[in-house]
Amino acid sequence: MAASKKLFVKTFGCQMNVYDSQRIGEVLAPHGYQPTAAIEDADMVILNTCHIREKAAEKVYSDLGRIRQIKARRHAEGKTTVVAVAGCVAQAEGGEITRRAPVVDVVVGPQSYHLLGDLVRQAEAGIRHLVETGFPAASKFQRLPARAPARQPSQFVTVQEGCDKFCTFCVVPYTRGSEYSRPVADIEAEVRALTRDGVLEITLIGQNVNAYAGLGPDGEHWSLARLLAALANIDGIERLRYTTSHPSDMTEELIAAHAGLAKLMPYLHLPFQAGSDRILAAMNRRHTTAQYLSVIRRLRAARPDIALSTDIIVGFPGETEADFAATLALTEEVGFAQAYSFKYSPRPGTPASLASDQVPEAKKTARLERLQRLLSRQQTAFNMACVGRLMPVLFERAGRRSGQIIGRSAYLQAVHVQGGVEHVGQQLDVEILAAGPNSLTGSIRDPRLAA
Ligand code: SAH
Ligand code: SF4
Ligand code: F3S
Repeated sequence: MAASKKLFVKTFGCQMNVYDSQRIGEVLAPHGYQPTAAIEDADMVILNTCHIREKAAEKVYSDLGRIRQIKARRHAEGKTTVVAVAGCVAQAEGGEITRRAPVVDVVVGPQSYHLLGDLVRQAEAGIRHLVETGFPAASKFQRLPARAPARQPSQFVTVQEGCDKFCTFCVVPYTRGSEYSRPVADIEAEVRALTRDGVLEITLIGQNVNAYAGLGPDGEHWSLARLLAALANIDGIERLRYTTSHPSDMTEELIAAHAGLAKLMPYLHLPFQAGSDRILAAMNRRHTTAQYLSVIRRLRAARPDIALSTDIIVGFPGETEADFAATLALTEEVGFAQAYSFKYSPRPGTPASLASDQVPEAKKTARLERLQRLLSRQQTAFNMACVGRLMPVLFERAGRRSGQIIGRSAYLQAVHVQGGVEHVGQQLDVEILAAGPNSLTGSIRDPRLAA
């Protein structure tokens, strides 16, 4: 079919949504939709949304206000525009979205993207306010089309969806449903196909990726460690990562994989959320500070050069100055290369949102500022310590300045060098010459290029 229509997708939230947005494009391609970066030209606009904090969810409604004007303008020119809301706000709010924002034609939850073709056909025929928020994940993966050729050497592959942990602050178990792991053979086939497009690095993603328990070809349920070992054997794969992990699912086997698998990058994102055991219990995190530190110690014993990143929440209901000081102390003790930190945001339907001892906004803001000052010191120190080192960098794209290319170190730092675009897609040794808070600069010193 001729590609006559234009599709604009805006992605909010986590890597799961980044992966899903790509798959959504692949579902709609056979229906004649090609991607555009210009929303005014789009025959279909999809917002792939995130419900994790109030700000993320509210941003969707302000965008829909702007889209209403664009749709009206296009209508005056005789053009139609299909507007869809996908992702976690779609799952959480369903038909409420079309009531609050009647401009929306289609509401589609994260487990229903394989149905988008049908939904869009109906919307194009003028049927409005379609809502599809069914479960489970299994049917989606089986019915998605093959991936389009990859254009970047580093790709996400979703291996697990959903969460059974029910942290008391979090909407994910409600928006993504219960845990589902894709079968090993499907993942291997997807990764093999990506290597044929020149992909060198795979990040396995899941809301709770280290709880992975997919069906193996031998009829057994495979652990994430076993899956990683199998993927490391695929020719062409040079780097493996996985995210996001839960501390209580960091098994001995997975920790040992960091020692045994050379292709597994020495970098791990491991959220701890809070440094006070009382708060961790109220969060239903299922781990204590001591258990978290024990995981970190064992990881460092397995892979001494491992760098860590984390997620932290400040101002959870009932958090005292002493609780917050414990979060600062744990941050100091571990020392992170990178971190995401958030003010607690009460979310509809979650137990913590009903707690009577909510922390005042001003206190949350002040605590977040203190924590972020510490984290930014740690991140800068980690980057500075890389100066003078020779590090392998996987080049992903041309930089904004001419003659500049940008890649990532094993520690996920952005590395800028002067170099030709022919190096995009290659992993080369780089001498790090300077460091800033958010990136490194260096010079290619690869013996393979000397000839
Ligand atoms: N599955 C991952 C990530 C979940 S969402 C995990 O278990 O860690 C990403 C991060 O958002 C969380 O780690 C948490 O730090 C933050 N987050 C989740 N709900 C939140 C809320 N209600 N308010 C503030 N931050 C929240
Ligand atoms: Fe949310 Fe907790 Fe599940 Fe992570 S482990 S997705 S924070 S409920
Ligand atoms: Fe947001 Fe859903 Fe991801 S709530 S963080 S987009 S799983």
